[in-house]
Amino acid sequence: MSTVLFIDSGLGGLSVWREVSRLNHGLDYLYAFDNEYFPYGEKDDSVIVERCNRIVAAVTSRHVVDLVVVACNTASTVALPSLRANFDIPIVGVVPAIKPAAQLTKTGVIGLLATPATVARKYIDDLITEYAGNCTVIRVGSSELVSIAEEKMKSGTVDKEALADCLSEFKNNPDVDTVVLGCTHFPWLRSEIEKELTSRIRCVDSGHAIARRVNSLLNGIEKGGNSVPKNSLAFMTNSKTADFSKYQAVFSRAGFVSLEELKITG
Ligand code: DGL
Repeated sequence: MSTVLFIDSGLGGLSVWREVSRLNHGLDYLYAFDNEYFPYGEKDDSVIVERCNRIVAAVTSRHVVDLVVVACNTASTVALPSLRANFDIPIVGVVPAIKPAAQLTKTGVIGLLATPATVARKYIDDLITEYAGNCTVIRVGSSELVSIAEEKMKSGTVDKEALADCLSEFKNNPDVDTVVLGCTHFPWLRSEIEKELTSRIRCVDSGHAIARRVNSLLNGIEKGGNSVPKNSLAFMTNSKTADFSKYQAVFSRAGFVSLEELKITG
């Protein structure tokens, strides 16, 4: 029985967990999210790197973990080298689906919808140069959309007017035919986003590709020491929030047995 740890700032990484759990059966999952520092898209790179390292250290000091999925584009585009240097566990990151978008677009005009931090990264410049050099990529960074997604997960409500505002640059550009959902929170708003952008624009994300990557890595990984199913557990960095019971309900619906505070040291 292998155990996979997912990390994110909030509930967005559950969109990656959902794809992984659909494709891989019989795994145990740990999900740790940094609600204390949410949203990552507004934080300095060094803070995100530090928090990701501390979270992985805190979880792996208590649980056997066979593979870590950094289920956050904002963190993956900056923290992967450091995590891979510090932990002797395979670490999978998520990369905005620029390459598939470049293959799908007919107009050559792609939208990248991500966090303010992600759209400004050199990592993204390099990705575009390598895979979408012949395309125009319009970048929109929005923490508001991240919060709209988080709210939908917690309470089921979506502020449609605010969502429409976040998407206006794509909607008003008749050449955009493909939008990359470059933040793991956004697949939770896929139906609302697609409705707002109309059928002219298709949305792509990297959740399924990550699930396939996890699948191929797990086949080659020597299993962790604990072969007894432990069931899936969730952790948050600050449980003293008025929304605790809403978070609990999200994880309970997803089949996790508990949600606890993760004590971060160092
Ligand atoms: N889910 C995240 C991502 O994929 C982080 C959103 C945030 O905290 O700003 O980028």
